[in-house]
Amino acid sequence: MARIHNFSAGPAVLPESVLEQLRSQLFEFGDTGIGLMEMSHRSAAFSEIVDSAQARVRRVMGLPQDYAVLFLQGGASNQFLAVANNLLQGGVADYLDTGTWSNKAIKEAKRFGTVNVVFSAKEAGYNSVPAAWEQSAGAAYTHYTSNNTVAGTQFPGLPASHAGLLVCDASSDIASRPMDYSKIDVVYAGAQKNLGPSGVTLVTLSPAAQARAAASDAPTMLKWATHIAAKKQLFNTPNTLGIYTLERVFAWIEDQGLDAVAERNAVKAQALYDLFDSSDFWAPHALLGSRSQMNVTWRLGQRELEATLLEQADAAGFSGIKGHRSVGGLRASIYNACPMDSVTALVEFLSEFERSHG
Ligand SMILES: Cc1ncc(COP(=O)(O)O)c(C=O)c1O
Repeated sequence: MARIHNFSAGPAVLPESVLEQLRSQLFEFGDTGIGLMEMSHRSAAFSEIVDSAQARVRRVMGLPQDYAVLFLQGGASNQFLAVANNLLQGGVADYLDTGTWSNKAIKEAKRFGTVNVVFSAKEAGYNSVPAAWEQSAGAAYTHYTSNNTVAGTQFPGLPASHAGLLVCDASSDIASRPMDYSKIDVVYAGAQKNLGPSGVTLVTLSPAAQARAAASDAPTMLKWATHIAAKKQLFNTPNTLGIYTLERVFAWIEDQGLDAVAERNAVKAQALYDLFDSSDFWAPHALLGSRSQMNVTWRLGQRELEATLLEQADAAGFSGIKGHRSVGGLRASIYNACPMDSVTALVEFLSEFERSHG
């Protein structure tokens, strides 16, 4: 069967060229005579993969050599806990509540100190992100979710100002646009949206974040210093397949240039928003200025038609456009690897649906 149009929120579509490389390396990696998943994480071949992955992350994200680049396990959800366990140390932190995932981060952080929720978009149904908020004096860090996968909102750029270190859950928009990531002290992202398969989590740490985390009493596996000291992901057995795939996805980004990737992302998102702004048949969820270029969320003016649309979309080969179970409606996740053709086909399908039901 041919591959269909995949708008899954994650795990999500991967570049076909990366999948093809994976297919060939699974059976025999290079000329080692051993398959990718079968070789030791202490082998020279795997060591090269880690070096290359770290170098590519640094280049694409513009991170200097003194930033740590880690490939951890446990998903972004584990970092909700790790961030606070490493940085809070009984102090105060500012958290921006922009939806489901920031809520989960807030819940974990409360175990380790005082959490000030300095902004919440809850009342308005999480349809926006803030440009500014009141900062807490003496906050150890400020935590924000750069792209809200469920609500479909996204910070247009870096926060203008913040208290303490800046910490970002970038799970659903990492490496989707040029951004001065060196201004963010902690970036963490589960790989399964823009970077590869599930099971590997990218964490980058500024020197200031590393210094503060060094004093934490976090348990060994959660303590970032453990993994920094072990070098090359060797503290325990890492997700070797995931790290290889992430390295290949970063190579795919570098081959095109992040600018070109970002430009394509903007065009894809605009094609959908243009349609949703064109008539009352559609009701886009996020406010202008907060709209996500990764997860486009919308409803139908006539809600009773949503089930019909989903049924027809499924039959027509469009997968994954049902909104998150907590909010309903519809969502198209159009991460880096989602082809322009898939978005064009979706816009055509939706336009036809409007013509026949509007
Ligand atoms: C923004 C964001 N943060 C965190 C998570 C949780 O990630 P994980 O499943 O890797 O723990 C998700 C998952 O979709 C997400 O979209």
